Amino acid sequence: DTNSPNPEEKHPIIIVSNRLPITVKTTDGGFHIQRSAGGLVAGLRGIHERSLTWWVGHGGVFDAEGYAKLKAKLEPDRLLPVPIERETYEGYYQGMANNAIWPLFHYFPASMHYQVQDWRAYTQANRAFADTILELAKPGDWVWVQDYQLMLVPAMLREAAPDLRIAYFHHIPFPSSEIFRTLPNRDLLLKGLLGADLIGFHTYDYVRHFVSSAVRLLGCDSYMDEVNHGDRLIKIGAFPLGVDVASIVDTCKELDTLAPEQELFPELDAELVMLGIDRLDYTKGIPERLEAFGSFLRHNPEYVGKAVLVQLCVPSRQKIPSYGDLRARVERLVGQLNGEFGRPGYTPIHYMYRSLGHREVIALYRKAQIALVTPLRDGLNLVCKEFVAAHDDEDGVVVLSELAGAAAEMGEALSVNPYDVEEMAATLLRAAVMPREERRHRMRGLRKRIVAFDNDSWCSTFMESWRKCYENRVERSVK
Ligand code: G6P
Repeated sequence: DTNSPNPEEKHPIIIVSNRLPITVKTTDGGFHIQRSAGGLVAGLRGIHERSLTWWVGHGGVFDAEGYAKLKAKLEPDRLLPVPIERETYEGYYQGMANNAIWPLFHYFPASMHYQVQDWRAYTQANRAFADTILELAKPGDWVWVQDYQLMLVPAMLREAAPDLRIAYFHHIPFPSSEIFRTLPNRDLLLKGLLGADLIGFHTYDYVRHFVSSAVRLLGCDSYMDEVNHGDRLIKIGAFPLGVDVASIVDTCKELDTLAPEQELFPELDAELVMLGIDRLDYTKGIPERLEAFGSFLRHNPEYVGKAVLVQLCVPSRQKIPSYGDLRARVERLVGQLNGEFGRPGYTPIHYMYRSLGHREVIALYRKAQIALVTPLRDGLNLVCKEFVAAHDDEDGVVVLSELAGAAAEMGEALSVNPYDVEEMAATLLRAAVMPREERRHRMRGLRKRIVAFDNDSWCSTFMESWRKCYENRVERSVK
């Protein structure tokens, strides 16, 4: 019975994402394999570990011999790497995915660099993913494709194996149809997604934009949360991802039991600590945030010597020139502002360019009174949710960009337009002087929602909707 309410008992679910949930480093003797972090992985790890789930993704190994070895090594963990040549991978990942789709979908149309050879590589790489899935999948299996790197995969699977149950989740914004329509081959990307039975986004705005695109560009009919494409009905829904609250709470407890000499970041003892944690990406609004902090100190000199901004930038996509340019710009600004406001014994901006472990990140959240989450555009943003989860003291203020998907769920945060530096500076002051009672009230509201909708509930809510796609279909065909 392929309509079983627990499909994973009879049919495995196959999760597909560009990266496997591990990082592979090639060593002399073979491979060094580490579990990786990140929101997408945290959302799906539970279902992968608890059920008969396979995970298909690129393992970062390009040569044929290395690939075969890696495949054999990962098989016991139900991880299946996809073979893709280096050149194709680069055109697909650095080119089409991250130099065309990524900037455009985050409303940076002038930074979209579309090249036809990258489109070809994207198609080839998506085909390699689909072929690898098809080696594994049997009729009636459930395949859940993740994110903008793989937008063609649902239709490729549908065409080759129409009885697969296919879903797709989009982790980045889906832009207004007027922006989306400027992308060459946009119709093929839409048709690619419409190969799925259920398409999930983080917010209702993205759902709306996607449906408008399907209606305007492909002439699809739509009714409520469904789109008609050919002879199929595709369900579209909003499912905002949550964070792994349980593991954050465990880490908080562990940090509470540390002896004073084991404390993490003991030297971080300023009166007021503000915190930004981001991949170093031009969508994150890091220069604007630094400017806002500078303006806050300029207008409120009583905070010079008292307030610091800790900014952790996690290296990302370093082979793409715009990322290198951004790094130079951020580092110049940090230098300028530290030069303007610093003095012996006081460094206003503590800048780090590296990744930190889970414990260190949680320790930083707990040391900070104010989280600055000010992306120029963000699919959702989990940093603001993690900050809230780590504040079991019910204290702390979140300053949150209205252009992050998470803003739709976090009404108690102080909302800012991340392009408006002076408004942000004024909001920093508002956060700095907010009375304890108001901070507690806001944080309680935020915590309630974040605890109730964690990463596992995201996954189970999505699965529930996915199952319902087929229940409805049976009813419809009976009528
Ligand atoms: C975003 C995307 C993910 C991606 C992550 C890191 O969150 O939605 O699909 O994995 O960024 O980017 P990277 O290019 O390093 O995978």
